[in-house]
This record gives sequence, structure tokens and C-alpha cells, in this order.
Amino acid sequence: MGSASSDSFAPGRVLIAEEDLATRVAELGASITADYAGRAPLLIGVLKGAFMFMSDLARAVDLPVEFDFMAVSSYGHSTRSSGVVRIVKDLDLDLADRDVILVEDIVDSGLTLNYLRKNLLARNPASLEVCALLVRDSDVYDEDSLRYVGFRVPDDFLVGYGLDVAERFRNLTEIRVLDTDGAGEGAA
Ligand code: IMP
Ligand code: MG
Repeated sequence: MGSASSDSFAPGRVLIAEEDLATRVAELGASITADYAGRAPLLIGVLKGAFMFMSDLARAVDLPVEFDFMAVSSYGHSTRSSGVVRIVKDLDLDLADRDVILVEDIVDSGLTLNYLRKNLLARNPASLEVCALLVRDSDVYDEDSLRYVGFRVPDDFLVGYGLDVAERFRNLTEIRVLDTDGAGEGAA
């Protein structure tokens, strides 16, 4: 039953090709390397969506980075975040005096990020910046608070490169628009 429900979805047309992701991730890594020279930033990945981006990003940073992860879940199962966030897995490391970079897959309404930012700032890091692979074009989020952004994306539901629908399609090497009728015309 659980898997049957994702059969009505299929990955549609490619929005961001694998080589374009690689190029942009390399640029973001180079920016972080320059900005944090002489420091050892702590990358915090938001599971599960950010895992693939964070893995590639970290390898594009030429500094002694450290890693930690948080898992959050919004209440409810819709494709839109409710803004009510629950921490499912908390950090292992102490953030006090650390240069923290929060790594997110996509900022949609920004509600998840707002919550996480407050939560992390309360742990007294030396600094906190956000690196988001994708940001909605139409979002109402205050972009000045996003130090690193990969791509601005339209208001379509996206899958691949870590992004899922009902846990599927995270392993696509590119980012695709979800096809909700299941026809998957562009999926080949
Ligand atoms: P926000 O709280 O509205 O900014 O939602 C952010 C979270 O919603 C992301 O970390 C994703 O997990 C999820 N999300 C938002 N848009 C998409 C999408 O197009 N595809 C997959 N997940 C999405
Ligand atoms: Mg997510």
C-alpha cells in the first residue's frame, strides 16, 4: 500500500542536470573555502534531503570540515511544510564557539529553516550561516539570511539529488519536476 501510493508519481522533465549541479556545488565549495580560510567549519546537514548535496559540497571544500546531522520532520504528510517542526534526531556535537554552516536541500516557505536557525543560535555558535542548494523563486523567505544559494527554482514539486516524494527518487543524479499523473513523459 505504502509503495502503491508512490506509483502515481513519476519523475518528469529535468530541471537541473547532473553536470550543472556539479558545477554549482564546486563553486559553492570554493566560496566556503575562501570565506572560512584558517577555520574548521562544522557542516550540519538536515536529513534526509540534504545528504547528497552535503556529501558533494564537503568534498568541494578544501578545509578541515567536521560533520553533524539533524533530522526533522514536519507534522503531517503533505508535500507542503506546516511550519511545526519536530526534531527526530538531534546533533551529537556541541556548537559552542563553532563556525556552523547549516546545509539544506530546499527552502520553500522557510518555516523549517526559521525554526532550525533559532534552535541552533540558542546553542551559542561563533557563527551560523546557511547553505541551501535550492530556494523557491516565489518564496517569502528573507534571502539576506541565506549566505550560500545554489539555484533559484520555480514553484514545482521537485525530486532527485536527495529530494523525495514519499521517500522515492532521492537517488536520481539530477533534479526533476515531479509528474503527478504518473505518465512520466520526460523520465527517460
Ligand atoms: P519549508 O519549511 O516550507 O521551507 O520546507 C522545506 C522542506 O520541505 C525541505 O527541506 C524539503 O524537505 C521539503 N520540500 C519543500 N519543497 C520540496 C520539493 O519540491 N521536493 C521535495 N521536498 C520539498
Ligand atoms: Mg527536508
